[in-house]
Amino acid sequence: PKEKGWMGSYIYNYQGFWASPRTIQGAIACQQQFQAQDSDIILVTPPKSGTTWLKSLLFVLVNRMKHPVFEQNHPLLDKNPHDLIPFMELTLYVDGHVPNFSAFTSPRLLSTHVPFASLPKSIKDSKTKLVYLCRNPKDTFISMWHFTNNLRLHHKDIHSIEEIFESFCKGVSPYGPFWNHILDYWKQSIEKPNKVLFLMYEEIKVQPKLQLKRLAEYLECPFSIEEENCGVMDEILRMCSFENLSNLEVNTNGKLSTGAENKVFFRKGEVGDWKNYFTIEMSEKLNHIIEQKFQESGIKFSYI
Ligand code: A3P
Repeated sequence: PKEKGWMGSYIYNYQGFWASPRTIQGAIACQQQFQAQDSDIILVTPPKSGTTWLKSLLFVLVNRMKHPVFEQNHPLLDKNPHDLIPFMELTLYVDGHVPNFSAFTSPRLLSTHVPFASLPKSIKDSKTKLVYLCRNPKDTFISMWHFTNNLRLHHKDIHSIEEIFESFCKGVSPYGPFWNHILDYWKQSIEKPNKVLFLMYEEIKVQPKLQLKRLAEYLECPFSIEEENCGVMDEILRMCSFENLSNLEVNTNGKLSTGAENKVFFRKGEVGDWKNYFTIEMSEKLNHIIEQKFQESGIKFSYI
């Protein structure tokens, strides 16, 4: 099946999720070729859930022995987080490319938007750890709308917010249905808490230190008392804050290796911006769908 995608071109359904042909090819190449290692750490998100933020937190956290956080020349200062932790299906395996992992040190940090069912088998069969991050559906939708508007400048066929809202509600969104993506990883995180850590954007916003600590413990690199006393956690959170990252020269003027401008990944970085765009009808319609889809799981999103 195919549907009109958010970028003006068609998207297709592959193994139950929606994506462009290029993304599907990347996902297939990953399934066929990717060999997971037990020490791999893979960040998984639905698009626009705060991937850029968690990539920076993960990179700084995991590499803090090699790159101490108070060091002047930390890689995060002159590289965009997406260049530090590449997307498997969008960067590493894109266009039939065979990635060279020789420059990666252990643990390899990678990321993907691919739903659980379509992950490479070796990820599921190994001790590779997955870190999952999602965000409330309304802010994710608005963030995605802005993002695709930005990327769509060269396409003539622009969709209105109402039009793409309807397709989002039908489950047609990049890597969607949105609910299935979240529910499948949620289920895994309940069944295998050592395999999948389930995080929410809003929870990191409200309790950044607690969530960072949780992440460090899950990844078996907990903070020592000494680190806690020296303010290492505060410094990691400061380095990775929206304010710090979005003002770095690399993120204001730089481009990704894929050609996208780094600044498109930093827009507002807040919870609740959806209120500036949603009509009451849109909000009620989505509330109804969310209740139906998530009720059984007990997942509760925070919208403010
Ligand atoms: P908004 O469009 O709502 O501002 P992704 O990284 O998955 O593409 O998600 C992008 C969203 O995360 C954007 O949301 C962006 O502004 C926000 N974001 C980027 N860096 C952030 C940070 N350091 N802290 C909080 N939010 C951040």
